[in-house]
Amino acid sequence: MAIFAANFKCNLTRAQTKTYLAELDAYLGYLEQDSNKHQDSHKHTEVFVFPNQAALLENTYKFVRVGAQNAHCVENGGFTGEIGAEQLREFGIDSILIGHSERRTIFGESQDYIAQKFAYFAKAGFRIIYCIGEDLSVRQSGDVEAFLRAEFEGISRDYKNLIVAYEPIWAIGTGVSANVEDIERTHAFLRSFLNVPLLYGGSVNETNAQEIVRVANVDGVLVGSASLDCARFCKIIESRC
Ligand code: 13P
Repeated sequence: MAIFAANFKCNLTRAQTKTYLAELDAYLGYLEQDSNKHQDSHKHTEVFVFPNQAALLENTYKFVRVGAQNAHCVENGGFTGEIGAEQLREFGIDSILIGHSERRTIFGESQDYIAQKFAYFAKAGFRIIYCIGEDLSVRQSGDVEAFLRAEFEGISRDYKNLIVAYEPIWAIGTGVSANVEDIERTHAFLRSFLNVPLLYGGSVNETNAQEIVRVANVDGVLVGSASLDCARFCKIIESRC
């Protein structure tokens, strides 16, 4: 069982997202049939797509789960520019990314605010992909473990619908993923205190996905740029063990 998640960030229009999801869902239907035929039940996959907020679509696909990249921890109200749980529910959306480094660094989300969001969406029963990851200066200082631990302050690590995505900031959008040894070491550390699926993210593409999903304690990948093209994302999904 492996998890493949696509984070479109601020890319693709609503029309493009619609075409993409129809194509991806059809492809996953074909894969499912093929694994049933060959009794490859171990090859079952869970696939998420997190489209741009303006391209949220009803979460009614057969094989792909549509999730939200972000939302404010509120049902509705006076929060200009935000969406709340009420709007997500209208689309049947029950998965969300929380703690992405772009939210932390570009939009200034503090650990305290992130913990509030986490508690809110956990209470609502959402599947939460909780993102963590250090920047280059932390990596070079050697304090990666302490930094990553601090990103769990206020976070309920045994929440039953939790998935954790380790995304080193220095590997995001650079075209150069962390190397297999670094991923293995960091995921072993995370596994020492987390009993939930662990994803790796940061420049995953159709060429490196297979070696990454084979690393111990890697249960799947969270993909940005290489997921924007449906055919490339399908190739990444084919790397399932
Ligand atoms: P890239 O795959 O473009 O490096 O982005 C990773 C990411 O931030 C996914 O959330």
